[in-house]
Amino acid sequence: MGVVNAQIEFAKLSDAVEIGQLSRDEIEYGLGWKYTAKTVTQLIKSKTKNVVVARTANDLAGFGVMTYCDEQANLDLLAVKSGYRRKHVGSAIVLWLEKVAVTAGAFNVFVQLREKNFAAFSLYEKLGYQELENIPGFYQGIENGIVMAKSLRTMTNVT
Ligand SMILES: CC(C)(COP(=O)(O)OP(=O)(O)OC[C@H]1O[C@@H](n2cnc3c(N)ncnc32)[C@H](O)[C@@H]1OP(=O)(O)O)[C@@H](O)C(=O)NCCC(=O)NCCS
Repeated sequence: MGVVNAQIEFAKLSDAVEIGQLSRDEIEYGLGWKYTAKTVTQLIKSKTKNVVVARTANDLAGFGVMTYCDEQANLDLLAVKSGYRRKHVGSAIVLWLEKVAVTAGAFNVFVQLREKNFAAFSLYEKLGYQELENIPGFYQGIENGIVMAKSLRTMTNVT
């Protein structure tokens, strides 16, 4: 528990290597490494995605990636470095991305997570996401995936 003085802001191209490594180690462990620095660079440049980081005075505490597509958004990636966890950094990243989704006209956000990822499930549940389905073998046939979603309609009046 505790507080982290972190600023949520758009990722820079120079963050791509660290984001790729975080994705490999904290999200994609045991699977093939898809989000390499090269791929993350493409995400940062993409017009339909936002890559954001939680930056402290001298460190990158975490990052998140959201894709915007008409009335829907998808939270593609989220990770917080182990030393910064349970300090609401992950929640702050998701809430920041949700606000942008509302502004962009999206009404629903979807997220997919590993069935055994209790921390992520708890975080999304706390933020108002509900489980939609469990997809067997969703992660490269190795692990089942849970799809969760949240309606952003109640946020449309938020300024
Ligand atoms: C999941 C993850 C992003 C959470 O980030 P975080 O900054 O620690 O989350 P927060 O501090 O914002 O947690 C918000 C709430 O979620 C729940 N939660 C988060 N982690 C939890 C855990 N390990 N166990 C139980 N509940 C947890 C709690 O309700 C928490 O509120 P509280 O601390 O006031 O009780 C982080 O654990 C992580 O990076 N994990 C590895 C990568 C990953 O799994 N990414 C998600 C892929 S879908």
